[in-house]
Amino acid sequence: MTPQTLARLHAAAFHDHRAWTANEFAQLIDSEHAFLTTHAHGFALWRAVAGEAELLTIAVDPAHQGQRIGHALMQEGIRLAETKADTAFLEVAQDNAAACALYDRFGFKVVARRPAYYQSGTGRTDALVMRAPLPAVRT
Ligand SMILES: CC(C)(COP(=O)(O)OP(=O)(O)OC[C@H]1O[C@@H](n2cnc3c(N)ncnc32)[C@H](O)[C@@H]1OP(=O)(O)O)[C@@H](O)C(=O)NCCC(=O)NCCS
Repeated sequence: MTPQTLARLHAAAFHDHRAWTANEFAQLIDSEHAFLTTHAHGFALWRAVAGEAELLTIAVDPAHQGQRIGHALMQEGIRLAETKADTAFLEVAQDNAAACALYDRFGFKVVARRPAYYQSGTGRTDALVMRAPLPAVRT
């Protein structure tokens, strides 16, 4: 998947946030630590360093959300993460119900909270830092 396609999908999925540019994606995927899982309508970008895998971002085209594409991307990402790390972490807005439900499925638990970290509509919402042991406990 090209940096341009990644940026397009990211902008569509995160329509109320600053989208990451194609240049930013090009630099990220160039890193020896990065790994990417893709689908025609979405992708997930990870980084694994020193035994820890971080989900940097996951995005599914809004026209195709709710079709278990996110689940498939996580499934594949976790499978790769398990070969590179013994723990996984990520950050998510507390009010992002779809993402929280998805992460819960792969055994992620909240380990920290950053109060009022994200802009959400007209207000602010907490960021949750979630962590999962690898191999992941899938439910
Ligand atoms: C989060 C995201 C990647 C999920 O992808 P998706 O393909 O829509 O999700 P899936 O169809 O695989 O569903 C994943 C889970 O979320 C649940 N879900 C989906 N949409 C939901 C919604 N609007 N509200 C609550 N739960 C929802 C599903 O029921 C499923 O849970 P289950 O396994 O318990 O049934 C996608 O919604 C997205 O790109 N959102 C915008 C970008 C974003 O927020 N990324 C995450 C940032 S941390």
